[in-house]
Amino acid sequence: MEHVTVNPWAALAYLVAGVCFILALRGLSSPSTSQRGNRMGIIGMTIAVVTTLITHAPVLAVACPQPANGVALCEQFGALHLDTLALIEILGAIAIGAVIGVVTARKIAMTDMPQLVAAFHSLVGLAAVLVAAAAFLNPQAFGIADQVIPMIGQPFWAIYPQSRIEMGLGVAIGAITFSGSVIAFLKLNGNMGGAPIMLPGRHVINLGVLAGILGLIAYFTQDQSPWIFWTITALSFVIGFLLIIPIGGADMPVVVSMLNSYSGWAAAAMGFTLHNSAMIITGALVGSSGAILSYIMCKAMNRSFISVIAGGFGAAADTSGGGAAKEQRPWKRGSAEDAAFLMQQAEQVIIVPGYGMAVAQAQHVLREMADKLKEHGVRVKYAIHPVAGRMPGHMNVLLAEANVPYDEVFELEDINSEFAQTDVAFIIGANDVVNPAAKTDKGSPIYGMPVFDVEKAKTVLFIKRSMGGVGYAGVDNDVFYMDNTMMLLADAKKMVEEIVKSLD
Ligand code: TAP
Repeated sequence: MEHVTVNPWAALAYLVAGVCFILALRGLSSPSTSQRGNRMGIIGMTIAVVTTLITHAPVLAVACPQPANGVALCEQFGALHLDTLALIEILGAIAIGAVIGVVTARKIAMTDMPQLVAAFHSLVGLAAVLVAAAAFLNPQAFGIADQVIPMIGQPFWAIYPQSRIEMGLGVAIGAITFSGSVIAFLKLNGNMGGAPIMLPGRHVINLGVLAGILGLIAYFTQDQSPWIFWTITALSFVIGFLLIIPIGGADMPVVVSMLNSYSGWAAAAMGFTLHNSAMIITGALVGSSGAILSYIMCKAMNRSFISVIAGGFGAAADTSGGGAAKEQRPWKRGSAEDAAFLMQQAEQVIIVPGYGMAVAQAQHVLREMADKLKEHGVRVKYAIHPVAGRMPGHMNVLLAEANVPYDEVFELEDINSEFAQTDVAFIIGANDVVNPAAKTDKGSPIYGMPVFDVEKAKTVLFIKRSMGGVGYAGVDNDVFYMDNTMMLLADAKKMVEEIVKSLD
């Protein structure tokens, strides 16, 4: 078996990169340190990429065909040629990727971030599949095989058994990440309905396919026939698809963070195949932090972690609440002047921002409104739901961008009990996260998700554009029709600008 030597300088550089990634995750845990965290991530990735480029020559030397006379000519001449050529190709690919990345990042609206993240995860998954396929087709290039010269028949490269396990796991996780992320992208982008698609007997099918994949990976260690490798790949594409289609609208945040975790494990598996410790470290960090985030999201949504990983296991099949026809019930409409008057009289106002605030980009004018209210002696607090908006921390980022003081921003469990003693709950572009159906309607797709008790406030001011528009889960909201609710129908930014004028 070939011994893979590790350049000590490369190992040290990868260790430094790994430390940078850990510091990056630490920084990203709070909006105030997130920019520093981002910078640490960039530094770590630069160190890892440059180190890989500088130290990739040995792998290419192994890639040189071994001539029959045993003199590897390319190790003397060809390696240099291959090196330069490969370097040009790699730098070219990096340049193309960088241009696409920069243009996409500049153009993408914050509200479209989840589908962009899902699209990126699909690329990580696809990369894992392609690397595993390349390693399978040309194992000698990766230093993971010994040449066997049988008594009868052609010489062939026998892949080491542990490399077959790494390769099998890498291709399986990568393919699941790819097809799962494509479905998540289509659902988040609106190309596919958000409602869960429940196949009859899906748990039996899923368990059967998963057992088949694991069985084939075990068999692959004994027999490296191409049909086994390609069947593992095909079944994994299928299971990725099957796991995500039963997950419905409001649970998509959990799916995005779960796929984030899968993409990390796929990268870590690739790291083993490529003997690249930076990839193993980075993949494991992404995999474990994604798993922790998924767990936090599941807790926030009151969903079982296992049930979501298993593809909607235990999810209520009855989704009659989603998209149900809205009843014609009386509701009250108010104006900006009414809202300003009510809030000026209040002792405490709790602002509940949601996706609509992000669409309208109303965070700056909202802070202006809060400042004016504070001048009038009103206590202002912001209530942030863990899945408000379209990505984890979406509202925190927007409020931080508008310089809202952190001590005015509260998490769900810290502020929910205060609504009962609050004069005004000011809902700006939120809907699902304030929908009491989550507490009362067992048939609703958001049933069980903790929501703000806004209905307990003395007055509810509800900004949205029309009575027809529903939240992400497509469920009508009883709060619209309550006696103490005043609907402020307009674009969030325009409405708050008018309120600010009225407060003047
Ligand atoms: P939603 O339930 O999506 O409601 C958004 C509301 O904003 C709608 O009522 C919409 O009504 C209104 N709106 C849209 N544009 C507006 C504008 N320009 N001005 C004023 N109002 C506007 O939002 P939410 O309460 O934040 O809940 C988030 C939902 O998204 C949850 O179901 C969550 O599970 C899901 N989700 C979250 C994430 C993450 S990680 N946060 C990721 C994917 C999905 P009109 O159209 O009538 O204006």
